Amino acid sequence: MSPTVVVTRREHFNAAHRLYNPAWSDAENARVFGPCANPNYHGHNYDIDVSVSGGVDPATGYVVDIKTLKDLIEAHVLRRMDHKNLNLDVPEFAATNPTAENIVVQCWRWLAPVIPVGRLVRIVLWETDRNVVEYTGG
Ligand code: NI
Repeated sequence: MSPTVVVTRREHFNAAHRLYNPAWSDAENARVFGPCANPNYHGHNYDIDVSVSGGVDPATGYVVDIKTLKDLIEAHVLRRMDHKNLNLDVPEFAATNPTAENIVVQCWRWLAPVIPVGRLVRIVLWETDRNVVEYTGG
């Protein structure tokens, strides 16, 4: 039986967003979200770590070709969000607040079905180098 290894690819994207609950008043949004609710948006430099777990293929020595993983993240995550306004440009966030929590779950929904070998086990989204969220499914 081949050993199971977790392989992680880190990618980067820039995006703008605004945290806002349309059911609340502007004052309530300002109280809960602070400057993150500013009407004219603000940006982040996000890093995303995508981890796939699987057996090491004895022929290649790989769990998954990391170039394949890179290409999948580019096609399914970066192409949708890099240099975009998440609230306005990404349909999934038209009615969902684009918090780091909601972004990481959405990234999972885009990526989990397209991982060709092994399985997606973790996505870590760095909104800043101090604010990090992690999703492992479920
Ligand atoms: Ni923000």
